[in-house]
Amino acid sequence: MTDAGPASDLAPEAFERLCGGRLGRPYRWARMCASTQELLRDPSLPEGAVAVAEHQTSGRGRMGRRWEDEAGRALLCSVLLRPKRRPLPQLSLVAALAVAEAIEEQTGCETAVKWPNDVLVDGRKVAGILLEASEGSVIVGIGVNVNQAAEELPATARHPPGSLRMATGRPHDRGVVLAAVLERLEHWYAAWSRGGLHPVVPHVEARNCLRGNEIAVAESAGLAGRIAPEGGLEVRLASGETIVVESGEVELLGEPLELVRRVDVGEHRLVDP
Ligand code: BTN
Repeated sequence: MTDAGPASDLAPEAFERLCGGRLGRPYRWARMCASTQELLRDPSLPEGAVAVAEHQTSGRGRMGRRWEDEAGRALLCSVLLRPKRRPLPQLSLVAALAVAEAIEEQTGCETAVKWPNDVLVDGRKVAGILLEASEGSVIVGIGVNVNQAAEELPATARHPPGSLRMATGRPHDRGVVLAAVLERLEHWYAAWSRGGLHPVVPHVEARNCLRGNEIAVAESAGLAGRIAPEGGLEVRLASGETIVVESGEVELLGEPLELVRRVDVGEHRLVDP
């Protein structure tokens, strides 16, 4: 890792002016590293430590996949949490909601959440979240496609990828996006720590773009329903039985996802095609 080179909108002197909360202290910035997740594997670091990089050489995605980036274009960040509440996988939804709200605030675009933790704009995946837990701590890895042009995004991505720049037609300051993500994450992490998923789920459900779609997940196939109170995904099987899937990778069986348009928390409808 090195910090030499041209100025960056994620450099400590730029970011520390924007950081108003508990998350982001200390702040570790690298021009290049294997994965920002590794920069936080230090038992002496306190909760709230954040690591970001301009480029990862071995960026990790969910399910053992790689997370590719174009140097200097994406927000690649990891946040160290030491939660007392369980179950830890619920933090996927907490982080997804935080990222979705931050993107909405920064871009004015409507977002959707593809359970459990992808964030979509215009039906394209613009952010993904990876949780890695060990010995009472969780490293929340957040990748947001910020300033990539279409040709700079991985062609092999399982879900059509997009970026904030593609969605808005203008570049975005990654330090400002990061500060917004951390502010929202601090808010929803505190809410979850106090009251569990109860206050979080309605806001995720309002962005649930799987609802009403034919999916396959965890060796089951059926119609995706709502996010269950404990964070699983309800799936209605062909038999008529409704099950709750706790984890897994969702495969869409039908048409590409329609973006959910939010009417109000607790009241949802799918956009007409
Ligand atoms: C996914 O959608 O599969 C999750 C992607 C998570 C990527 C981020 S980028 C910052 C952090 N470091 C990593 O190696 N991965 C996460």
